[in-house]
Amino acid sequence: MLDRLANLFRGKPVLVRGTGKLAEGHSKKVEIGDILAGGKLILLCRVDGDLHALDTRCPHDGGRIIDGPLVEGKLAICPLHNYTFDPKNGQVVRGSCPKATVYKVREKDGDAEVWA
Ligand code: FES
Repeated sequence: MLDRLANLFRGKPVLVRGTGKLAEGHSKKVEIGDILAGGKLILLCRVDGDLHALDTRCPHDGGRIIDGPLVEGKLAICPLHNYTFDPKNGQVVRGSCPKATVYKVREKDGDAEVWA
């Protein structure tokens, strides 16, 4: 828990351009850094007007949370066993497993800063 909190405030944010175009209830995958060199693949999700960043690694059994329209306009899904996650906090909504990793994100003027 403390590691996750520390990660939220560690390091510099990465700028992701054009996030203002992401429609309500949709999500988009974004690479943060080089995936082959320790980078991350995150999912930016627009819920209730706000942008949220969720790690695409599913905490259940090695699947990947996918992009596209969110379930009921607000939940990210891993298609391997159809577990759904709340992008606001990573909490599993349908299924039984630990929370998905979320990252701090701040949106300004149509772009976003992500601490991943
Ligand atoms: S691995 Fe993602 S739901 Fe099972």
